Amino acid sequence: MLFFFTFLIALTMVHCAHYDYGEYDRTRDDFRPGTFPDGFIWSTATASYQIEGAWNVDGKGESIWDRFSHTPGKVDRGDTGDVACDSHNKYREDVQLMKAMGLKYYRFSLSWPRIFPDGTVAGGVNQAGVDYYNNVIDELLANGITPMVTLYHWDLPQALQDRYGGWVNEEIVEHYDNYATFAFQTFGDRVKYWLTFNEPMVLCSLGYTSGEHAPGIHDPTSVSGLSCGHTLLKAHARAWHTYNTTFRQLQGGKVGIALSLLWAEPRDPDLPADVSATDRAMQMINGWFAQPIFGDGDYPNVIKETVQKLKSQLTEVPEFTDEDKSLIHGSADFLGVNHYSSRITSDKPIDIQTQSVFESFQMTTAPEWPRGQSDWLFAVPWGLRRLLKYIKEHYGDPDVYITENGWSDGDVQPPVMEDTGRICYYMTYIDEVLKAIEEDQVKVRAYTAWSFMDNFEWTRGYTERFGLHYVNFTDSNRPRTPKQSASFYKDVIANNGFPKGAEVTRIVQDMWEQCRGSDTVKEEL
Ligand SMILES: *[C@@H]1O[C@H](CO)[C@@H](O)[C@H](O)[C@H]1NC(C)=O
Ligand SMILES: *[C@@H]1O[C@H](CO)[C@@H](O)[C@H](O)[C@H]1NC(C)=O
Repeated sequence: MLFFFTFLIALTMVHCAHYDYGEYDRTRDDFRPGTFPDGFIWSTATASYQIEGAWNVDGKGESIWDRFSHTPGKVDRGDTGDVACDSHNKYREDVQLMKAMGLKYYRFSLSWPRIFPDGTVAGGVNQAGVDYYNNVIDELLANGITPMVTLYHWDLPQALQDRYGGWVNEEIVEHYDNYATFAFQTFGDRVKYWLTFNEPMVLCSLGYTSGEHAPGIHDPTSVSGLSCGHTLLKAHARAWHTYNTTFRQLQGGKVGIALSLLWAEPRDPDLPADVSATDRAMQMINGWFAQPIFGDGDYPNVIKETVQKLKSQLTEVPEFTDEDKSLIHGSADFLGVNHYSSRITSDKPIDIQTQSVFESFQMTTAPEWPRGQSDWLFAVPWGLRRLLKYIKEHYGDPDVYITENGWSDGDVQPPVMEDTGRICYYMTYIDEVLKAIEEDQVKVRAYTAWSFMDNFEWTRGYTERFGLHYVNFTDSNRPRTPKQSASFYKDVIANNGFPKGAEVTRIVQDMWEQCRGSDTVKEEL
């Protein structure tokens, strides 16, 4: 899931009244029928801590999210991932539901402490954990579903947190590389798509700056957050080179990284101050990780300037040597994009002496943007197309896999099963992907809906539901029920988009008008 730095969240709540979003692109919101290129990947995603449960079963070690959610006051209603969707037991049923939707791909993550309970190879491998993932992978393949595996989706072994202080300490790189090597070795005969990390920006800013996420480190100076990012980039590059050198020839897979990328639109495109503020925001939020890997191999200037200012407070200055740069630059076979929302950005003058460049812009939303249950989630489909074009132009025209995109409803009674808001969101965002491919020639290879089912939404616990399937968390069997969006997405997959001139076009066109014309989305909230 995507979040922003805390100060951005606070600013988000201010609506901007002066923004005329239709003024300079009148066809922007038109529906474009058409099908996706042959072989386009349609997928859904989950993550280990959010769905597996079985937190202390079969030899699994404690993760930082186990520790964090067990700490009173950290998660809404005191929810934990102890049971979650119980996918540790119910993965066969999940695979059958995927098959029923016609899904051919599934993105999920490995829990590092389920495989190495204390995070290290020396501490010993937990065979039961390895067996579990072998079973999941085999079950998927037996049902014609290709696994796409995230190595790290936030559940660090607690032992590594205790021993090293987590991602601020570069000693962890070695352990991560050992873990990645083991995963390539053990599962790589069957797994051909890998993601090293999920959303480093989010994990470093919420885990090591605001402290809202595990491991809960609150450091408003940004020193910990920047160190975390520095370590992650090195760990990512190490794992990619390990794969490239040792496994690629034999296994023939691809290794990428999933970055949470935001689209920022200048409040006034004719005002140079707003345009440059928007550029700073894009560099800071997206470029922090995208530029070292997909750009010139180094941090964007806004990050470098911040590091210079903080130098006196840093023990290890996060700056790359030439060797680091050459290892990091180009260390991805594709760019995984987790994208949910956009912001309108304007300039905010700062005192250069006392304030950080991070504070030099201000972000808002437009009143007409429908909002999901999550306070940061506003539906701005055209933002995705602009982001994709930006990626093509700024990050070397990489193969792009959209690795997350989705919409939240509340945990209400009766549950939202006719989830029009989610259908509208998927329909409009997917159509923008089609425009990006056909009109802007962006090399988008995959689209992944977040999420396959309702699950543990981090600090929001089970209060925000992102699933194509409803999960009843008060029932010990955790029954899953497809929502209307599951059947909508099933049709999109079966048709490989919205075929021109077909009946489906008419139906989608009608829905499109409804989504745009009515207040359905707002009513649902
Ligand atoms: C990846 O591995 C291939 C084959 O060993 C090698 O030729 C190439 O230089 C490696 N790429 C990088 C960026 O190190
Ligand atoms: C969820 O499960 C509980 C316990 O079995 C049941 O009472 C409740 O009706 C279920 N809710 C829904 C929406 O199915």
